[in-house]
Amino acid sequence: MQGPIIGKLSRISGPMIAADGMLGVGMGEIVRVGKMGLMGEVIRIDGETVYAQVYEDTSGMYLGEPVESLGTPLSVELGPGLLGMTYDGIQRPLITLQKSSGDFIARGLTAEPLDYVRKWAWTPTVKVGDSVTTGDFLGNVPETEFLKHYVMVPPNISGKIASIAGTGEYNIHETIATLDNGTQLTMTHKWPVKRPRPFRRKLPAVTPFITGQRVLDMLFPVVLGGSAIVPGGFGAGKTVVEQQISKFCNADIIVYVGCGERGNEMADVLDEFPHLTDPKTGGPLMNRTILVVNTSNMPVAAREASVYTGITLAEYYRDQGYDVAMMADSTSRWAEALREISSRLEEMPGEEGYPTYLSARLADFYERTGRIECLSTVNDTQAMRHGSLTLVGAVSPAGGDFSEPVTQNSMRVSGGFWALDAKLAYSRHYPSVNWNQSYSLYFKELQPWFRENAPKGWPERRQQAVDLLQKDTELQEIVQLVGPDALQDQERLILEISRMIKEVFLQQNAYSDDDAYSSLEKTGGLLEALMIFYEESQQAVQKGVHLTTILRHPSREEVARLREINSNGFMTKQKVVVDQVKAAMQGLIAAAV
Ligand SMILES: Nc1ncnc2c1ncn2[C@@H]1O[C@H](COP(=O)(O)OP(=O)(O)OP(=O)(O)O)[C@@H](O)[C@H]1O
Ligand SMILES: [Mg+2]
Repeated sequence: MQGPIIGKLSRISGPMIAADGMLGVGMGEIVRVGKMGLMGEVIRIDGETVYAQVYEDTSGMYLGEPVESLGTPLSVELGPGLLGMTYDGIQRPLITLQKSSGDFIARGLTAEPLDYVRKWAWTPTVKVGDSVTTGDFLGNVPETEFLKHYVMVPPNISGKIASIAGTGEYNIHETIATLDNGTQLTMTHKWPVKRPRPFRRKLPAVTPFITGQRVLDMLFPVVLGGSAIVPGGFGAGKTVVEQQISKFCNADIIVYVGCGERGNEMADVLDEFPHLTDPKTGGPLMNRTILVVNTSNMPVAAREASVYTGITLAEYYRDQGYDVAMMADSTSRWAEALREISSRLEEMPGEEGYPTYLSARLADFYERTGRIECLSTVNDTQAMRHGSLTLVGAVSPAGGDFSEPVTQNSMRVSGGFWALDAKLAYSRHYPSVNWNQSYSLYFKELQPWFRENAPKGWPERRQQAVDLLQKDTELQEIVQLVGPDALQDQERLILEISRMIKEVFLQQNAYSDDDAYSSLEKTGGLLEALMIFYEESQQAVQKGVHLTTILRHPSREEVARLREINSNGFMTKQKVVVDQVKAAMQGLIAAAV
């Protein structure tokens, strides 16, 4: 291999630079720019001139300063110790950097992404003479109290085990295995972020990605390994949705990427997450979370790096057989960074100035989600190993206009569309998911799962609610046109019940101790109670009971108050209330005849 190629800085245009004398440098290679050694990535080659996007602030550099190619693409280091970390877009640990350089991170700094001193309690699971290949487990370490980190043979490596470290304490850079061809393996390896990690094949998704949010789990469920976008205008509630899901979803591991959003939103996450407990294990939530942070005051080029860094970390745990969920808030800021860089490169602009390759970029990115069969060969249990990567991408269309390119292109490649509605947000209906605009392409494949595992009658109750909400929309139009007097009591009842569905079932306060999370049992049970109230009232109206008498009856208030009952113990209370409703309506009917 030749030594590093060093050229000269010939142009600086915001986050984009050009350097001459760089013959031999390849696309995607990392360069160190200027005397400060800022990190950049080659994004265009023109003869011996290369253009690079720079991940750090380029101000104060001079033309003629050196630009050095490192000969490698942007990569992340993978190994035990990732969980609980907070990184910037190029996997520099923010807490470590903060300690060394204060709140404003000095440019050109480097820091080890993983703690290389810490010793991990290693247990080998292969023996000398075993043939191993990509993805095979060599052994494991307890990364947290609840999660085993499986050390795998890195991609494109195989051989026979010549030596393997025995049970004991090792740090991540000590050799733990040697292959017969001389390859030495440690607990870590590097992987280029723009290249999807290999797997054997994609599998059909069959289990839901449960979010603990009623409107999503009941009406617009997504599969583990699927993807959803959360488009919404300014302040519509995108970040709260992403955070709620991070806290309560059924993934083993969360990668939360704050991309180009205001610093205080990320500060909230950084303040809040370390104090939260994981509802699954009772341990700290941070133990299953990795944060990647690139806020609006950080250089735009690093936004792209942050989403790729995030998804690569997610893939790495997926490859170990875990269900991983990645939150990206907001993918629009990444698209805007692409637009800025593209315009500085003077590329031909596409729709609304975004580069013409925007749709391909987004498609390739969403393609990295999925439920997969992991690579590995050693034995049967490992050969059957499955992992999944679910992606929830916030989209911030200006003015909440969903016809803009980022929303449209993301929509085409994701299976869930959770449309946030400014009007609902304005009337404090949260989460402001619009039930008419949103959809999920996964519901059909999830039906069998829900039928088998969710509370009884789930698909039927769901359909009932969907039909009522649709009828409600139609009736509202009639009311708008000719006034409420045109409606029959049965129709008025539909309006009232729909209002209850919206207020009691679809709304969910993220700040309520008892309702921020709704278990499937609670979600199913709450809807069931509402529907039983509806069916009983319907009957009562038929038998001549006045609608106002029904609606004024205290049992209605009891149903509405069920929402405030914690998921624990919910069904006990629900049964009492349902019995009350039935008795009350029978009483009203008896009195009417
Ligand atoms: N589920 C919820 N429960 C209660 N309040 C909520 C909920 N969702 C959103 N809100 C309220 O709406 C506010 C704005 O929400 P959020 O910050 O998530 O919006 P956003 O779409 O991310 O905004 P931006 O466009 O600025 O990023 C929150 O601070 C909170 O007060
Ligand atoms: Mg936000």
